[in-house]
Amino acid sequence: PLPAPFGVPLPIPAVLAPVARDADADRYEIVQRQAVAEILPGVQTPIWGYEGTFPGPTIESRGGRTTIVKHHNELPVPTVVHLHGGHTPPEHDGYATDLVLPAGSAPHAHGGHALMHDPAALISHGSRDYVYPLRQKAAMLWYHDHRMDFTGPAVYRGLAGLHLVRDDEEDALPLPRGERELPLVITDRAFAADGSLRYPSIDPSLTSVPGVEEPYVEGVFGDVILVNGAPWPVAEVSATRHRLRVLNASNARRYDLALDPPPPAGPVFTQIGADQGLLDAPRAHEHVPIAPAERYDLVVDFGAYPVGTEVTLVNRLGTGTTASVMRFRVTRRATDDSHIPARLAEIEPLDRAQATVTRDFSFRGGMVGGRHGWTISGEPYSPSRIDARPRLGDVEIWRFVADLHHPIHLHLVDFRVLSRGGQAPGPYDAGRKDTVDLRPGEAVEVIAKFDGYRGRFMFHCHNAEHEDMGMMANFETV
Ligand code: C2O
Ligand code: CU
Repeated sequence: PLPAPFGVPLPIPAVLAPVARDADADRYEIVQRQAVAEILPGVQTPIWGYEGTFPGPTIESRGGRTTIVKHHNELPVPTVVHLHGGHTPPEHDGYATDLVLPAGSAPHAHGGHALMHDPAALISHGSRDYVYPLRQKAAMLWYHDHRMDFTGPAVYRGLAGLHLVRDDEEDALPLPRGERELPLVITDRAFAADGSLRYPSIDPSLTSVPGVEEPYVEGVFGDVILVNGAPWPVAEVSATRHRLRVLNASNARRYDLALDPPPPAGPVFTQIGADQGLLDAPRAHEHVPIAPAERYDLVVDFGAYPVGTEVTLVNRLGTGTTASVMRFRVTRRATDDSHIPARLAEIEPLDRAQATVTRDFSFRGGMVGGRHGWTISGEPYSPSRIDARPRLGDVEIWRFVADLHHPIHLHLVDFRVLSRGGQAPGPYDAGRKDTVDLRPGEAVEVIAKFDGYRGRFMFHCHNAEHEDMGMMANFETV
């Protein structure tokens, strides 16, 4: 039986302390290991976690200061860590075949598969240092497993955490902070009768055959909504503005977030940021749709509600147990010296006229290895397939079309949505993005500057089941 909603307090993932801070870098260590978590009250659930927790600990970095994370793999399978949204050199970007083999495993026991697919794979044994220069603006990034063919089940078991980048430009703004800044990592999960997470892998050992059983090829969905790893939690808030930093870390589920009741006055949500950081100016929304891997930086003014109000964060795309996400309980008045400035950040304009190349990609279902799978421009993923070679520093327009909803993510770059369905970008397309949700039959153009590092990077659908079953490709900056 599922727990009654709004019974457990909203947990906030612990902020990881660095093991060293030297002149040029902050150093962290993370152990990836199996653990048992009490996700549903009174139920023991085996998970895979960074530091044994789900979500993993939050890392907080300063923009422009190098962060080095040593990841130790104590799991039974190889892992790969990708910092989603990070502008990262290719050898540290968590390429899908750059495996960290389990500590103590025989050198080629697990790496052989990746090497067979990709002679260029960088294989590590037991641990590796991921070096993040973080030459980028303040943003909420996240880190997660990215192993070829098995990202979906590994993330589902718990391998995901937040990485916040902060900077002086953002710190200078009078935004809600401290306990009035809440990270909200939203996921859905299904549980088996024995308390374990239920994921329909074809190969539950997650070592040989990729993919999920036929009825789940469109994506794996759960009936329990977790925020920061807790089912339908409740947060007690003062009647003041709060900054909600929302990540949809679900494998496949899209949400359309709204508040019930809506505030008696003023907008429901004021969006101040997108995937890659602050917007130029705030935007008001009555509701916010969010696809897997997208982030929305939202301010809610709980001061608009009478003290004692219970405000539910609802999912307008859900039914039954998936129609609500969490609850806020407005418990007391408090002074609020925050406000939302009319100008938030300088955003470098990217104009159609700057683009040197326009490329087309289609995202559709198709047969992959004799099974139903997913393709980009008609072909499934292979490490050796390079679909685009942008010149370093060039601006390009990429045009996407899709059969169904597909949230498309590009590594390395941030992009702007240039058009949607032949029209101007929609209300939720503002700002610097790294993931854009395609809608069935609709063409979307994005524009990006391919800057920073030369090398091979992935782009893919962030529906994790689609990604594992072929919907991934490479570009190489040259
Ligand atoms: Cu969040 Cu290539 O992934
Ligand atoms: Cu997809």
